[in-house]
Amino acid sequence: MQIIHEEIMRHLPRSGEARRLFHGRGQCFSGYDDLVIDYFPPVVMVVLYRQRSQAWLEELTQLLTAALPDKPAAVLLQERFLLNGPSRVLQGALPESLEALEAGLSFRLRLGEARNVGFFPDMAVGRKLVRERAAGKRVLNLFAYTCSFSVAALAGGARQVVNLDMNRGALELGRLNHRVNDIDLRQASFLSLEFFRSIGKLRKLGPFDLVICDPPASQGKSFTAERHWPKLVRRLPELVAPGGEIVACLNAPDLGPDFLDGLFAEHIPQAENLGLYRPGDDFPEAYPDCAVSLHHYRLPLIKNG
Ligand SMILES: C[S@@+](CC[C@H](N)C(=O)[O-])C[C@H]1O[C@@H](n2cnc3c(N)ncnc32)[C@H](O)[C@@H]1O
Repeated sequence: MQIIHEEIMRHLPRSGEARRLFHGRGQCFSGYDDLVIDYFPPVVMVVLYRQRSQAWLEELTQLLTAALPDKPAAVLLQERFLLNGPSRVLQGALPESLEALEAGLSFRLRLGEARNVGFFPDMAVGRKLVRERAAGKRVLNLFAYTCSFSVAALAGGARQVVNLDMNRGALELGRLNHRVNDIDLRQASFLSLEFFRSIGKLRKLGPFDLVICDPPASQGKSFTAERHWPKLVRRLPELVAPGGEIVACLNAPDLGPDFLDGLFAEHIPQAENLGLYRPGDDFPEAYPDCAVSLHHYRLPLIKNG
């Protein structure tokens, strides 16, 4: 437990912000590959990818209570190794509603209700990039989920954001995320559609100055990185305006960042590679090439130039 304590102390959040306290999935901490701890003040969420004993869980709860400057309102455990990843409260009680705070923005969580809580802390670097690049732009947010990129873009001065995801419930939470941040809902639209069947419709709404693509690693028939990323990259030029930018997030442990750079080089060779980003120090990775990577490209100002 010593290493868990040290990591928690290193990652204590500033001013109530959401923070990953322990990132065992990056395989940097021997014996703890199965453990992730996120802090959404005042709630701590412990995620386990294999079973641990009750005694171990009690020790961890005590450690958390002692280490955090404010006693957590609740310590919630999610057991990802079980079907549907059920959650249970280890200590305290969950507040009626809870938001993750990040860079002055709020994102509503649905703790204990679904496998994913509605917010991905490891995409903070992407939200920051989008917020910095969005001013005055028309943005297309593909695979939007709960629309955190849309909120970031509009906070950064985007003119308009079109969000698309086939999960209607996630988009509903996305709409709420705009309201929670006092964003005028006339600036955002929410299309609950399957992407590959909606390209014609999106073409009519476009072209867009900034297109964000953050598909899952693998989700049944809807998206499989190896099969669907090439199709997605091939169709992007139909949606991006000349001089427009693309932010593409690769979350596929079996494929390194060269996979995406290779696809862009093959299908959109005119795109300029503006940079590669990683989630940062809160997410240490023994094998960085297997971890999430974020790619930023720009099309030339003159089409096919
Ligand atoms: C990794 S999440 C996106 C996270 C989001 N960008 C964020 O910042 O929170 C992937 C999303 O892709 C959606 N999805 C998967 N396949 C899809 C498809 N073929 N068409 C539309 N949405 C899809 C899922 O419903 C899910 O919400």
